[in-house]
Amino acid sequence: MEVKKIGIITAGGDCPGLNAVIRAVVKKAVNDAGVQAVGFLDGFRGMVLDHHIPLNYDAVSNILNVGGTILGSSNRDNPFAFYYDDTQKDPVDESKKALETYERHGLSALVCIGGDGTLSMSHEFSKLGLNIVGVPKTIDNDVQGTDQTFGFDSAVTTACKAIDKIRTTAESHHRAMVVELMGRTAGWLALHAGVAAGGDIILLPEIPFSAEGVCAAVKRRSEKGKRYSIICVAEGAVRAGGDHVIQEGLNKRTGVVRLGGIGKQVADLIEENTGIEARTTVLGHIQRGGNPTPFDRILATRYGAHAARLVLDGVFGVTVCLRGGSIEHFPLEKVANNPRRVSQDSDLVAVARSVGTYLGE
Ligand code: F6P
Repeated sequence: MEVKKIGIITAGGDCPGLNAVIRAVVKKAVNDAGVQAVGFLDGFRGMVLDHHIPLNYDAVSNILNVGGTILGSSNRDNPFAFYYDDTQKDPVDESKKALETYERHGLSALVCIGGDGTLSMSHEFSKLGLNIVGVPKTIDNDVQGTDQTFGFDSAVTTACKAIDKIRTTAESHHRAMVVELMGRTAGWLALHAGVAAGGDIILLPEIPFSAEGVCAAVKRRSEKGKRYSIICVAEGAVRAGGDHVIQEGLNKRTGVVRLGGIGKQVADLIEENTGIEARTTVLGHIQRGGNPTPFDRILATRYGAHAARLVLDGVFGVTVCLRGGSIEHFPLEKVANNPRRVSQDSDLVAVARSVGTYLGE
C-alpha cells in the first residue's frame, strides 16, 4: 500500500510529551516517504466535526520540549456516544462522521495518541476498517502491554519535586503532611513519586488500607523521635471494604467519575487518632503540566518514529509500546478496556517496604 497522507489525533487527558510524538511522527513520515500529515483538533471531536490543521515540517518544528498539545485534546468526546454540547440530553452515535472525515482526507492511516480510553475507541475504529496505530500516553502509566507510557516520567518528576518541598515545611512544623496524587485507579504515580521522594507511607488503589494501620505507622515514627511524616496517597486509594472517594459523580460525557478527596480523609483520620497536626496538599493538574523530562522527550520521539515506521510498513490495529528497553508493538484489542495496575508483588512495592515505607498490609 502506498502511504500518501496520515492523520494524527491527541485524545484523553493531556501530558508532557504529546508534541514530541506529533513531531516525530510527522518528521519521520516526511523524511522517509514524503508523506503528508493532517492533525485533527481536540481528539476524536475533530474527527467528527472535521476540525483540522495541516501538519507540515514547519508546523512541528520547535515543539519537542513544549508541554500540552498543539492539536488540543479532549476526554469528553466519544464518537460512538457523542455530545455536540452540554445541553444535549442523550448521546448520538457519530462514528460514521469520523469515518467520513477519514475518507474525505484520503487518509492511509490514523495515529491515535492517547491512554486507555482513547486506545479502546481506536480499537473500535480499527474494527470498522480504519488503519490505526496507537501511541500510549498518560501520567497514570496504566496502559496494558507497555512498560511505560510517555508523560509518566514527567509527572513523577513534578510530583517528587513538590513532595521534596512539602518535606521541609513538614519538618519545621512537626506535622503529618498528606499529599494526594493523580493516577485514576492505578497507583503507579503515587508509588514512583512516593519512593523517589522518600514518602513514609504510600497508599495505593491496589492495596486497600485500614485507618488503624496508617495511624499506627504514624505513631511508630513519632515514638522513634521522627517529628513529621509524609503520606503519599493515590487519588484512587481505598479503605479496606470501602469505595473510591469521589469528587464528582458520573459525568455523562467522560463516562467516568472524578476521583478526589481521599487525601483529606486520611489527614482527618491521622489528626483524630494520633493528635498529630495534619495537612493535605492535592497536587492536581500540575502533574500533567509543564515541559517533558529528557526521558519523556526521548521515549515520545522513539514512540512517534516507530508509529510512523509501522504506518509505512502497513502494520495496523496495534499500539507502539516499550518492552525491556526496546520499542515494539502490541495488539490494540489487548489494550482496550483493560487498565494496567500495580501488582502487590511488584519489585518496587517490596523495595519500598524493605526500606521501611508503610504501604498497608
Ligand atoms: O488520566 C489522567 C488523569 O490526570 C487522571 O490521573 C485523573 O484522574 C484524571 O485524568 C483527571 O481528569 P480531568 O482533567 O478531566 O479532571
